[in-house]
Order: sequence, then C-alpha cells, then structure tokens
Amino acid sequence: MRPIDTDILVVGSGIAGLTFALRVAEYADVVLVTKKDRLDSNTNYAQGGIAAVVSSGDSFGRHVEDTLHAGAGLCHIDRVRTLVRSGPQAVADLIEWGVQFSRSEGRLALGIEGGHSKARIVHSQDRTGAAIEDALDRAVAAHPRIRVLENHMALSLLAARLEGRRRCGGAWVLDVKSGSAIQLISRATMLAAGGSSAVYQHTTNPAIATGDGVAIAHRIGATVANMEFTQFHPTALYPAEERAFLISEALRGEGAILRNWDGDAFMHAYDVRGDLAPRDIVARAVHSELRNSAKPHLWLDARHIARERMEERFPGILEGCLSKDIDPRRDPIPIVPAAHYMCGGVWTDRDGRTTLPGLFAAGETACTGVHGANRLASNSLLEAVVFAERAAARMLQELAFVPAPGDLEVLTPQDLSGFPAAPLSDLRNRLKQVMWDHLGIVRTRSEMHAGAELLEGLRREWWQLSQRSEPSGNGIHWAEAAETLNMIDVARLAVRCARWRRESRGLHFVTDFPHRDNESFLHDSTIVATG
Ligand code: SIN
Repeated sequence: MRPIDTDILVVGSGIAGLTFALRVAEYADVVLVTKKDRLDSNTNYAQGGIAAVVSSGDSFGRHVEDTLHAGAGLCHIDRVRTLVRSGPQAVADLIEWGVQFSRSEGRLALGIEGGHSKARIVHSQDRTGAAIEDALDRAVAAHPRIRVLENHMALSLLAARLEGRRRCGGAWVLDVKSGSAIQLISRATMLAAGGSSAVYQHTTNPAIATGDGVAIAHRIGATVANMEFTQFHPTALYPAEERAFLISEALRGEGAILRNWDGDAFMHAYDVRGDLAPRDIVARAVHSELRNSAKPHLWLDARHIARERMEERFPGILEGCLSKDIDPRRDPIPIVPAAHYMCGGVWTDRDGRTTLPGLFAAGETACTGVHGANRLASNSLLEAVVFAERAAARMLQELAFVPAPGDLEVLTPQDLSGFPAAPLSDLRNRLKQVMWDHLGIVRTRSEMHAGAELLEGLRREWWQLSQRSEPSGNGIHWAEAAETLNMIDVARLAVRCARWRRESRGLHFVTDFPHRDNESFLHDSTIVATG
C-alpha cells in the first residue's frame, strides 16, 4: 500500500471542491482526488445558474424570504442570511477565476426560476455549470500546490487520534486504473463529493452521483441530516436515458408553460405562482397530472418564445432536443420528473465543519441548513461557493494546531479483501427501482416500510458477494463495488429519515400524513452514527 502525506485532502472536483482547493492552496499543500475525469461532476450539468442579489431592484431580504419560503420551515435563518449576503462576492470571485457569465448591455443578465420573486439568476446561457467548471478546472490545473489524482476513489475515511481525541486523518483511496490502494494521510479533509440522485431509476445526475461522501462520512461517525428531502426536477426530457437530459426551469422563467394531454396549462390549478411555483409543488403537480392521464409524459410548451431568444439563451437545450428530433421552436417538449438534488447530507456548522474533528464538507455532500425541506432553484451553486470559502478560512486557522501528517496516529488501516470483485449492475438496478417505487415524489408509509426491508435485503446480498471476493479483483470492479455499497447505504439513510418524519413537508409528501406537523417535526432529521 502506497502512503501519501499532504496538508489537505479534497474529495471531489465539482464547484465546491475546486473553489475550496483554490482558496486553501494559497497556504497549504493540497491533494484533490476525483473518481472520474475531472469534468464529470454534477456541477458540469447545471444549466440554470447561480442565484445572487446583484441588481438594484432586488434585496437581500427578498432572497432570504424566497429561500425560507421554499424551504418549508426547516431552513436555518442565520445560515440563509450568510448565504444570501455572500452572494455578490461569490459571483465576483467566480468572475475573477475566469467564469464568463452572460451579459446584457454590459451588465450581468439575470434570469428567473421557480420560487424567486425577482430575476436574480446569474447564468452563462444554459451552460452555467460547465462554464464554471471549465474556469475553475483551468485555475486548479495551473496551481503549483494542488495535485489532482484523477480516477481515484475515496473508499473510506481514516480515523486518527490527536491528543487523545478521535479525528479524521485522511482517506483510504483506490487508484481505479491500477487497482492499487493508497493510504492518503492528511491534516484535514474536505468532502465535496456531490450528491446521491443516481440511487434513483430516473435522474438528471451523472452516474457518479452515488452519495459517496455521505456514506463514508456516516461510516466513520459524522452526523448526517435531512436525507428524506430528495428534490425531483419536474422537467427532464422524455424518454429519460441513464442521465435524463434536463430542461432547465429557466425556460419556464422565459415563459414556457407546462401542459397536460388536453392542452391545459394546469399549474395555476395547483399554485397561484403557476409554472414558477417552488419545485416541490411543480413536481407533485406533474406527478398528479401524469397519474390522472395514465400517459408516460406531459408537455412543456416553449413554442411562443421568440426564435432568436431561444437560440441565444438556450443553445444547449435546443441542441439536446434537436438531437432527439424535437424542435422546441415548433414542437412541445415531452417531459417527466427525475431525481435531481439531495437537500440533506453531512451535517456541518456555518464554517463547513462536520461533527468529526478534521473533517469538513461542502456542496451537495453537506447539509448546511440553507435548503431546509426544499432547495430554492439555483441556490446550490451559490451555497457551494459560499460555504466552501468559509470552510477554507476555518480549516486554515485550525491547521496551525494540527501536526504534520506523519505525526498523526492513524487507527484504521484497511485492505481490499472486504470488497466484492464482481460486476454489480443487477444489484444496482434493483436498488434504483426500489428507490423510485418506494421513496418517490409521493410516498406512503407502507411503501416506505417495504422499501426499507428491500434495502436491507440488498445490503445482505452485497455482503454475501463480498465474502466470495477474489483477492485478484481489478480497480474498476472494486470501485463499482464501493459505489454500490455507498448507494445502498445512502438509500437506507434516506428511508430512515423519511420513516421518522411522520408528516408532509417540502419534498417529503406522505399521503398518510398530508399536513405539516410543527408540533413534532419542525426539526432536521439527524442521524448520529456510532462510528
Ligand atoms: C434548472 O436549471 O432548472 C436547475 C437549476 C437548479 O437545480 O437549481
């Protein structure tokens, strides 16, 4: 086993991991591990943009209000204020790192999305995530103190001891191409490994969104929260492929209208804000119309948007649809909902610290308290930058009290013998089906109960396979096995949170308890692991 020592380990290469790495690398050596090629992160597929108060007609108060309203009573107001007030600086930082946002008459062009009372979505046409990822990637690649290990997957976190206290001492990392394992010892670790929507059969996320950060943090004992709140995006292109192609909410912001099979614009029957209601409401309305129609999809009608506007603002959506022989300038777009974003995650304080010393989290992996029970559209890229930057400042302060990595006492040496070295695609597919059927947009107690039992069965199967593992497995199989284990474990965490919350709130809608219960459940659903 090859050991590597570093000051700071970063797991993940989306917007949170990259901004964090750039900040801390001014003062410390950084190793950044990413399990695929760097460009394959969830950030890369973000179409909408980054919500920030940058126009004179807008105010911090309004953005705070919109966020709290969408979050259905569970947002932490102090964190939301921090998020919103840091927005203009976060946008300025991204511009400084080279991100090119769309402009109109020299000013930042602003879009509007569901739940926002003002146009405040800073964007780069409909390819905002890719524009951000491109610029940050270049800055990271040019940085002399950041070493990037592509095709490396963190299999587990290392427990260490410092002055009698347990802490995170780095990670045990698989080099996927060679199949060898590395003990990567660090003075502090940032988990920015993205979300877990790939546990669902239909998702807008890439296949790598397997909840690795949450699963490995939970296994080492960090607290996890609000995992029941998976956000479903109402408009993914039908038929949904392995990664469903997203039709950005920004298109509804430009006037596109959801229609059912009778051609009715149905959203006003569900909410006065119509097509721009918060995402949980729109997803449930689409779900209900689909059920009533017994058809496989509904329609998004953008035909009335001026052709030039469509071409200039939404080239990516146009291209994606045209590749399926759908021309949104002429045809309504067939759409279905798909899992999109994990609002819960590894619980952190306002400086990105988890409950385990030495371990930080940011981006979709973290639960910072800003999203509550339903994330406001385009608040996630903002959250990633703001809280990654705060975490960077805090970690650098703490590093002064942590000895060199070689002086840390690492408590958890590991090897690969516990991982099944066999393809697990069948197990994975069954897991995705369980989650789609048992913890979807609309839930029932009995479905969740049955789902929990099925997930325990899948966990047992994984374990049985691991008992038959060959010592000569290869890196790709081990990585698949580790991902599958992580998927099963985050799915179990989600079902556990969901079964605890005996009410309906935000993204968690249970027909047995259709109302909010502020008496008993105006709380985060936290899972404190035993480590
Ligand atoms: C979208 O473009 O509709 C997605 C934006 C987001 O998830 O915040």
